[in-house]
Amino acid sequence: MPLKYKYFEQRPLQRTLTEPVELDKIVSLAKRRGFVFQSSEIYGGLGSTWDFGPLGVEMKRNIKDAWWRAMVRERNDVVGLDAAILMHPDVWEASGHVGGFTDPLVQCEGECKERFRADNIEGDVCPKCGGHLGEARQFNLMFKTFMGPVEDATAQIWLRPETAQGIFVNFDNVATTSRKKIPFGIAQIGKSFRNEITPGNFIFRTREFEQMEMEFFCHPGEVDQWFRYWVDFSMGFFKRYGVRAEFLREREHTEEERPHYASAAADIEYKFSFGWSELETINNRGDHDLVAHQEKSGKDLSYFDQAADERFVPYVVEPAMGADRTMLAMLVDAYDEEEGEKEPRTVLRLHPEIAPMTVAVLPLSRNDKLTPTAQRVFEVVSKEWTTQYDDTQSIGRRYRRQDEAGTPLCVTVDFDTIDDASVTIRNRDSMEQIRVPIENVNAAITDLINAMREDISG
Ligand code: GAP
Repeated sequence: MPLKYKYFEQRPLQRTLTEPVELDKIVSLAKRRGFVFQSSEIYGGLGSTWDFGPLGVEMKRNIKDAWWRAMVRERNDVVGLDAAILMHPDVWEASGHVGGFTDPLVQCEGECKERFRADNIEGDVCPKCGGHLGEARQFNLMFKTFMGPVEDATAQIWLRPETAQGIFVNFDNVATTSRKKIPFGIAQIGKSFRNEITPGNFIFRTREFEQMEMEFFCHPGEVDQWFRYWVDFSMGFFKRYGVRAEFLREREHTEEERPHYASAAADIEYKFSFGWSELETINNRGDHDLVAHQEKSGKDLSYFDQAADERFVPYVVEPAMGADRTMLAMLVDAYDEEEGEKEPRTVLRLHPEIAPMTVAVLPLSRNDKLTPTAQRVFEVVSKEWTTQYDDTQSIGRRYRRQDEAGTPLCVTVDFDTIDDASVTIRNRDSMEQIRVPIENVNAAITDLINAMREDISG
């Protein structure tokens, strides 16, 4: 007989904080709980580079998996790709990045010699020391390196500043082998590198980051409708995974801020404590990239539509999202603090599919009576869910730790378990508890997680 567990009573999800939390609280929680550490910390750190710890790597992986599921697995018109980071240098000549992927840079000629992005500064006075700022010059954001043992101009290559070009140069390979007809898309997740002049705001703007990008190839006459479609899809993705709708907005780019390859662009922005900021850009790249690669490589990248008896170079709509930035927005959005009996309770109200751990198994104490049963419960639960086993410190402290890590459910093995072969399942958000026989524990977790998922998706 199928099980139907009575869900926790307190639904839907209640939150205490109504404004986005300050970043320093997220930075300290991220360090304390093992989400994010400073890179090379024991050597004093490397500016604006970060390492993802045991919880951070799980959470970022969940975000990438959620995106891949929504973008590739649940659709019949998008396929995946994993291209190399290192590419032929002509790729970046053709794409316009060598000539045009620049930010205007100004340097202080006074005491501090600091460098700034000219478009962030008004006037010619250094905001740090009051010195005079020199003339603006264009600074290319791509990292250079050399391929092979000789470090000369012929061996110079670039670290990719976007994953997109790996998709464009493989357009024909993928179209031919996947037998997809236009309109269809190619999705990719991977590292990108930009030598940002002013990185900052924790993992918001860094020099090494992960992108989740999809290039959607369509008929030129349909590009506007697909642009609208992918903006709405992108907004829907954030809401589906629990980001509050009132902290999200769509913003059209002005002509000046549009990248060199885009004829239209819109951002999905999140209301951080430091202001509304971009999480994702949706670009109309037209035929900019395919035409450029066609001309530079000499390879025909046009598409023949047999039904319409028409040959054309496809136009491209590109939703481009940062995995690290999305993780920051999800941490900020999930952060909540509420009154506790002795001290405030901090809880991350993350979507169950995004939370680093889904379940924690907690024996009330560590001893010969409870430990074997608790370990057996862990074995059963961890076959189906990402699970942490924790038997250190008091149960109250362990609940607090799991709340701060955003773990939706805690399964507690107590002394009654020995007699009734049942465990207690505690809800992260309401702290309600229900009692469940061990033999039904995974079925109960499935029901409870489904209910939490429904409650949190916007
Ligand atoms: N292929 C298009 C493209 O790269 P973009 O707006 O420059 O467009 C897309 O980047 C997304 O990548 C951004 O919305 C952001 O989420 C992420 N991103 C870009 N630069 C970043 C950086 N320095 N640090 C972290 N994420 C970044």
